[in-house]
Amino acid sequence: MTNAAPAKVAVLISGRGSNMQALAAAQGDAYRLALVASDRPEAPGLAWADRQGIATFARSPKGTGKAAFEQALDTALHDAGAEWIALAGYMRLLSDTFVARWRGRIINIHPSLLPKYKGLDTHARAIAAGDEVAGCSVHVVTEELDAGAVLAQAEVPILAGDTPDMLAARVLIEEHRLYPAALKEFVRT
Ligand code: GRF
Repeated sequence: MTNAAPAKVAVLISGRGSNMQALAAAQGDAYRLALVASDRPEAPGLAWADRQGIATFARSPKGTGKAAFEQALDTALHDAGAEWIALAGYMRLLSDTFVARWRGRIINIHPSLLPKYKGLDTHARAIAAGDEVAGCSVHVVTEELDAGAVLAQAEVPILAGDTPDMLAARVLIEEHRLYPAALKEFVRT
């Protein structure tokens, strides 16, 4: 039992935001979503968050550039009182400066069993390699892509005849279970 207030978490998305929705559904005593932010104003997940009454931030780095974008994002995060950041399908690399500012307070979900298959096309690469098991990882974000400490993983068997899309759909189900549980643990640290 703890009397501590729920941790304030911001979620960064670029697209549909199904992991963000799973994080929203698991809000409670451990954490609340203080902000959903996106580098793509048209991201479907943003509209969903807005409909739930969650504060949103939307801005494209195109035009002003990455530094101005991240400065505006940082301001929005502070204005929302965010203490932690969860990346959920956020498709842009955060700068070293931004990561340093939030060091140890950013996590990400990645659709592979890290350290295998950092970067993109994880499911196609796992199938092509003849792996029997795929999965997802929640890890701390550092300056190096998908390389920070792994906090939690879930395994998903690769089945005969699996296409990347079929495998991705089964891994995504596990992502939606794993990410809220890992976030709850992480914000207790
Ligand atoms: C997920 O597979 C996540 O692991 C990866 O990007 C995808 C985002 O999906 N980083 P969604 O936007 O959360 O639905």
